[in-house]
Amino acid sequence: MTEPIIVGNWKMNTNVSEAVHLAQQIRQAAEQSGVDHQCGIVLCPPFVNLSAVGNCLRGSTIALGAQNCWIEPYGAFTGEISAAMLRSVGCEFVIIGHSERRTIFHEDDALIRQKMLRAWEESLVPILCVGETLHERQLHRTWNVLESQLEQLLAIEERRNPWVCAYEPVWAIGTGIAAEPPQIEQAHAFLRALLDAHGCTHVPILYGGSITPTNAVALFSVPNVAGGLVGGASLNADSFVHIIAASIHARATNR
Ligand code: 13P
Repeated sequence: MTEPIIVGNWKMNTNVSEAVHLAQQIRQAAEQSGVDHQCGIVLCPPFVNLSAVGNCLRGSTIALGAQNCWIEPYGAFTGEISAAMLRSVGCEFVIIGHSERRTIFHEDDALIRQKMLRAWEESLVPILCVGETLHERQLHRTWNVLESQLEQLLAIEERRNPWVCAYEPVWAIGTGIAAEPPQIEQAHAFLRALLDAHGCTHVPILYGGSITPTNAVALFSVPNVAGGLVGGASLNADSFVHIIAASIHARATNR
């Protein structure tokens, strides 16, 4: 996929008509400004809106992604959605291990590893989220946390498949307080070295956490930041396309 990569995680927002409207607005603004050919763009609406958003994106360069999947292909797992189902509605990407899944739904690294394997089995590109809590940062445990979140994955052969890593410090998500560029630089350098040492030079590392049109250029200018995972600001077409344009600008000026 073209870098930079900007992923919109809509979380549990939009009903079907709002989702269609937002996807249409994003597509139109991206195509009119020409950013759709200079950036990898992925929209991740809630499950029930995937088909409708997929229809809006048909024939565009904008890809469809989901926010989660289950580890089995089918069966008695009430309330869950399989990677094969996501593939069948046109998804190319799936977010795995978001901090909200880890904390609210108690997903651990072993389950997340299984989800990654299932996503690959269905030829989806997983976007794996990692990141420390404020408490862990204050205890100077950031590097241990990031390493342990990646440990199981970096031990398996499948790591050579396509995937994306997203550094999302938990304390920066939805708080309006993005990490500072030096903090992002350190974390991304750490992750880059860790991934490279395990034969994952092909894995782009995105930053996520309170990205806005105002801070986007500064955040995307940080070395080893290949793009962004955007929550709140992806629910507004103007803001989201502004962030896409910022990522392209940052890449062009820092090359
Ligand atoms: P915000 O951009 O709303 O902080 O959310 C970030 C995020 O969790 C994206 O996955």
